Amino acid sequence: MNIAVFVSGRGSNFKAVHQSLQQGKCHSDIKIVIGDKLDCFAFEFAREEKIDVLSVSKTAKEGFTSWENLLKILKTLEIDLIVLAGFLKKIPDEIVDNYKNKIVNIHPALLPSFGGKGMYGMNVHRAVFESSAQISGATVHFVNKVYDDGKIIAQRAVDISGVESPEEIAARVLKIEHKLLPYVVKKFCENKIKFLGSRVNVLE
Ligand code: GRF
Repeated sequence: MNIAVFVSGRGSNFKAVHQSLQQGKCHSDIKIVIGDKLDCFAFEFAREEKIDVLSVSKTAKEGFTSWENLLKILKTLEIDLIVLAGFLKKIPDEIVDNYKNKIVNIHPALLPSFGGKGMYGMNVHRAVFESSAQISGATVHFVNKVYDDGKIIAQRAVDISGVESPEEIAARVLKIEHKLLPYVVKKFCENKIKFLGSRVNVLE
């Protein structure tokens, strides 16, 4: 299984997936890390691990490849799974069409609440905090053409009663993300994610 990971910054979820793949037995490799910046912490880690990195942009600028060209590169690399690990840009429809049910995203809340356009990073945790929700969590879902709208694959909840800041929620949720995303990637590689009508079932 050939995997492409998309990142925008810190890359802690990418690291968690990479480490889990290295420890696992499912013969899957991260072939390339794609970012929307020229450089970021996630790229630094990728380079240390000898994984190629590439920056993508909607508009032509130095150091960036276009989405059109990226699609060709993904095909050349025979990518089977795209993992959005904290990637902030919207994936163009053409890529979604080419990788139907082969793009997964981690969202730092329990969808379908606290998702949609503009709901990323600390915006999510601030909204959860302001709502006074007592539970939050992480969701991994398939990516379709609408923000945070694809079928949910897996979720884990965390108790946030008693938290005093959105940052505290973020820290609790991040711990769960680092387990949930590698879990889903592993299940995908084992071909254990199945559609049953409109629902997604993850087999044991
Ligand atoms: C994570 O909380 C992810 O769910 C969100 O952005 C954050 C990225 O963190 N979409 P990292 O880059 O994986 O450390």
